[in-house]
Amino acid sequence: MTTNKESELNNFNNTDIRSDIFIRRCSIDDLDGVVEVNERELPEDYPYFFYKSILDNFPETFLVALNKNGDIIAYIMWRVEKTPSIDSLRYVNKSHLVSIAVSEKYRRRRIATKLLIESMSAIKKYKILQYVLEVRVSNYTAIRLYEKLDFKIESIKKKYYRDGENAYFMVLNV
Ligand code: ACO
Ligand code: ZN
Repeated sequence: MTTNKESELNNFNNTDIRSDIFIRRCSIDDLDGVVEVNERELPEDYPYFFYKSILDNFPETFLVALNKNGDIIAYIMWRVEKTPSIDSLRYVNKSHLVSIAVSEKYRRRRIATKLLIESMSAIKKYKILQYVLEVRVSNYTAIRLYEKLDFKIESIKKKYYRDGENAYFMVLNV
């Protein structure tokens, strides 16, 4: 049987990402480029030290995509969080998607899909039980992207964003 996720992965091998796009782990020298993409593409901005601490703590899962000039055109970052299990008797690891963005000009080439699949595979070494994320309820594009990878809406977080918009809390069990 082929699950959706597997077929995503298979499609992905005949990827329509052009060969002029290159994905690799983020390095400290890439952070300025990551901040630039974030500030251009998303209203949620973070201080430099925040990116740096994600990079220091979870370097395997912080990925960037570059164009042929070596400019950063997309990034993804996750953090692993320990949360109490349902019976509260122990802690379990969850992988929380902190942020993903692709520069507008490079969208719809499955760059985000590739970033998600590669980083989710890399983060498994932390023995996580779940991948989780929040997304604006109006962000249809991103919601579609996550649904294609089998994430499900689990709940709504009211007024999650500073401007008062609600978030969907989406979950994918490993
Ligand atoms: N309209 C409808 N569906 C879309 C669209 C669109 N414009 N773009 C992507 N999708 C869906 C499609 O189902 C698509 O699959 P398909 O092309 O096979 O139909 C699927 O998502 C995968 O698309 P990708 O090409 O992999 O996505 P892309 O590289 O364009 O990046 C992203 C998607 C990251 C959401 C991009 O639009 C973006 O950077 N948006 C602004 C930043 C943002 O919203 N980030 C997410 C915030 S939430 C968070 O970070 C936790
Ligand atoms: Zn979050």
